Amino acid sequence: MFLRMIDMISVSMTGVFMNTYHRLPVTFARGEGVWLYDTEGKKYLDFSSGIAVNCLGHKYPPLVKAVSDQAAKLIHVCNYYQSDVSVVFAEKLIRACAGAGMRKVFFGNSGAEANEGAIKIARKYSFEKYGPGRHTIVSLRDSFHGRTITALSVTGQEKFHRDFGPFTPGFTFVPRGDPGALDKALDQKTTAGFLVEAVQGESGIFFQDPQYIRTAAKLCADRDILLMFDEIQCGLGRTGTFLAMESCGVRADVVTLAKGLAGGIPVGAVLAGEKAAEVLQTGDHGSTFGGNSLAAAAGIVVLDTVTDPAFLREIVRKGGRLMDTIRSWNHPRVQEIRGRGLMAGIDIDGESWPMLESCLAGPRTSGGAGPGLLILSAGSKTLRILPPYIIRDEELDQGLDLLRAALDPP
Ligand SMILES: Cc1ncc(COP(=O)(O)O)c(C=O)c1O
Repeated sequence: MFLRMIDMISVSMTGVFMNTYHRLPVTFARGEGVWLYDTEGKKYLDFSSGIAVNCLGHKYPPLVKAVSDQAAKLIHVCNYYQSDVSVVFAEKLIRACAGAGMRKVFFGNSGAEANEGAIKIARKYSFEKYGPGRHTIVSLRDSFHGRTITALSVTGQEKFHRDFGPFTPGFTFVPRGDPGALDKALDQKTTAGFLVEAVQGESGIFFQDPQYIRTAAKLCADRDILLMFDEIQCGLGRTGTFLAMESCGVRADVVTLAKGLAGGIPVGAVLAGEKAAEVLQTGDHGSTFGGNSLAAAAGIVVLDTVTDPAFLREIVRKGGRLMDTIRSWNHPRVQEIRGRGLMAGIDIDGESWPMLESCLAGPRTSGGAGPGLLILSAGSKTLRILPPYIIRDEELDQGLDLLRAALDPP
């Protein structure tokens, strides 16, 4: 009876949500591995991981078991206390980020919330040491850091700012890869922090030049400005190292994570190193749900999996296969490919959105029966590919065949 009600309701679903998303015409009912199934039973190969969230795919048995077992024991206690699993989760996360210099963590629920925490840490660190007025956060043009008013304020894309001002003051933007502009912007008298995505995801998969990041690290260290990496999309093994910034050979003062951190259960984290680990004190910050027992149980499975060096090597190998295959097409519609690990951006000769629609529909010869392929866009002309890490070679190849067929003219 209840299930029939769900069937009836799903028909009219589109009318109930605010129009914030340009939704594609599909309603999913279940998933397994790298496959999703819609309510009609059509299957889709997932090259999107729910925007870098389902990093272990769908219905990953250890994750299902951990979440089910934990739900049967304890889902949530408020942050007046701690739970056994939340302590283990925090310890494992700090250990995974030790190479970046991280020592303590605060859990929230999302990426935007993690970045809000980072901004608060930078401002309080600076305020306590230097007094008021040294509060500016520098970030990059074309960056993306989230949708709350302050996360938007630090996001360097005008299109997200339309209609929502006034914004939180104290943010400036510099172009990516321009050390001279950064040198000027990181004013020792006014700047508290520099927030940077090690790979800019939303704006088109742009990898930071390691030399630029090393220069940024030196400028920040010399001027006592906190160097903060937003690893929300590119971290957690996505590019083949636990954090994408590891490939630049620097240490961070602050790191933010979310998305895949609990494989689909909402959680966000802001971590701080030596300089800033003690900045937030009792009453300074909080989050009702942040890092609760259910999220922690899921997060432990993710961390145990993606910190395994052999697992990370596989991500690198599969990423190489992905890039080599796309390059081997020499496809006239492909203008540029950028990628590392299982994170790739493909610039095409037209708008990206129609490609999402044709990939979803599946091969023309199938008459819409599929299988479909789920890909993402990043900017208007870039296809973004973020497959689950557990994808097998034959599934990767099948997805790439579907992508190539969708690129070919009808
Ligand atoms: C780099 C980066 N930072 C922050 C966010 C915001 O995360 P959330 O949507 O969980 O608030 C995103 C989301 O796409 C992101 O890609």
